[in-house]
Amino acid sequence: MVSIKNKVPRRVPIILAVLLSGWLVVSFESTDHERWKSPAGDLDLHPQLNCEQCHQPAAGTTRQQFQANLKHWLGTREHGVDWMTRAISNSDCLDCHRNSEDPHAPHLFLEPKFEETRNEIHPEVCTSCHAEHDGAISITGNTYCFHCHENIDLANDPAQPSHLYLVQNKEWDSCLRCHDYHGNHADKTPRNLTDAPALLRIEEYLEGKSDSPHGNIKIPYLETRGAPR
Ligand code: HEC
Ligand code: HEC
Ligand code: HEC
Ligand code: HEC
Ligand code: HEC
Repeated sequence: MVSIKNKVPRRVPIILAVLLSGWLVVSFESTDHERWKSPAGDLDLHPQLNCEQCHQPAAGTTRQQFQANLKHWLGTREHGVDWMTRAISNSDCLDCHRNSEDPHAPHLFLEPKFEETRNEIHPEVCTSCHAEHDGAISITGNTYCFHCHENIDLANDPAQPSHLYLVQNKEWDSCLRCHDYHGNHADKTPRNLTDAPALLRIEEYLEGKSDSPHGNIKIPYLETRGAPR
């Protein structure tokens, strides 16, 4: 026979564990604490946004999603479906970042002539460069311009050194010192490399360690999605 004395101490840890997990589940579901679930927490590019601004509910009920994925796993359905939240796509970003004059708007690179570059760096997808939960403005480095601008040679080139010189000497890390990839910022393109921000400044910026060296934002980024265009 087990005495009451022995039972109590044995149950205490179990009860505590149940209470603790209950508290954790409740806390995790409350929006106050949602940042706990972010893979990076304060490293995020958008620490001020609620998760749902990007992670929107997937189509169908949880049961339908479960059944579809189970069938896919069993081989009786060709494709699986999104589970809980939809996969992030360009439109999730473009609802707030609306720059109609972006010379590198991703949709431009769906043309067949960019197929090789698409396979290498995926310029047609925002998230191939911007790593939300790694806190990096760009994980694609700063020399990939060569994929598409290898033949640049301007008549009456205003740049010093000239583009022809930079390309011939493969100085591809110079490009982002003068140029702003999407033209999001107000500063004018410098003509002389000595007037441009230092390479280290650009690298720190791309790693998410400092603000843009190309000046203030030209077209405001929206704080909430879906406001009229
Ligand atoms: C600005 C948009 C944005 C916001 C806001 C955002 N995320 Fe993400 N999240 C992404 C992108 C992009 C990915 C990469 C996966 C993808 O492409 O679907 C991702 C991936 C994830 C993943 C998968 C793990 C990983 O690293 O790939 C988790 C978990 C996640 N996010 C949780 C959160 C939580 C929790 C919040 C709120 C605190 C949040 N996210 C806010 C854009 C966002
Ligand atoms: C709900 C609106 C919203 C959505 C959705 C959104 N952004 Fe943003 N984004 C903003 C705002 C507002 C800022 C300015 C944040 C600040 O100044 O701290 C910003 C800043 C940024 C920055 C600069 C971050 C920095 O540290 O300077 C990048 C890069 C960016 N967004 C890319 C993206 C990408 C890629 C997506 C899609 C995965 C996305 N955004 C989705 C509103 C949004
Ligand atoms: C091939 C890489 C690449 C792709 C794809 C890309 N970007 Fe960028 N993005 C960059 C680089 C590089 C910068 C830094 C620009 C600069 O200032 O020189 C940048 C800067 C930004 C900024 C400005 C951050 C700041 O400091 O204010 C925003 C916002 C942004 N991108 C959003 C997007 C969105 C939205 C998409 C998809 C529609 C996208 N980007 C696709 C490379 C990329
Ligand atoms: C996937 C191909 C591709 C890549 C990679 C690429 N560009 Fe471009 N770039 C283009 C195309 C296409 C245009 C012309 C867009 C248009 O018709 O206005 C362009 C235009 C430009 C312009 C002229 C901008 C304007 O306002 O007319 C500059 C400057 C530029 N790119 C710089 C860069 C820099 C710097 C990089 C590297 C960080 C880069 N590009 C990477 C394809 C690319
Ligand atoms: C010293 C600064 C500087 C550097 C470095 C630089 N550029 Fe430029 N670039 C300019 C200026 C100035 C223009 C003239 C247009 C303007 O004012 O934006 C220009 C124009 C361009 C154009 C537009 C050409 C057109 O047909 O209108 C492209 C594309 C371009 N640069 C790509 C690059 C690439 C790729 C690199 C890296 C090899 C690079 N630039 C390096 C300053 C620079």
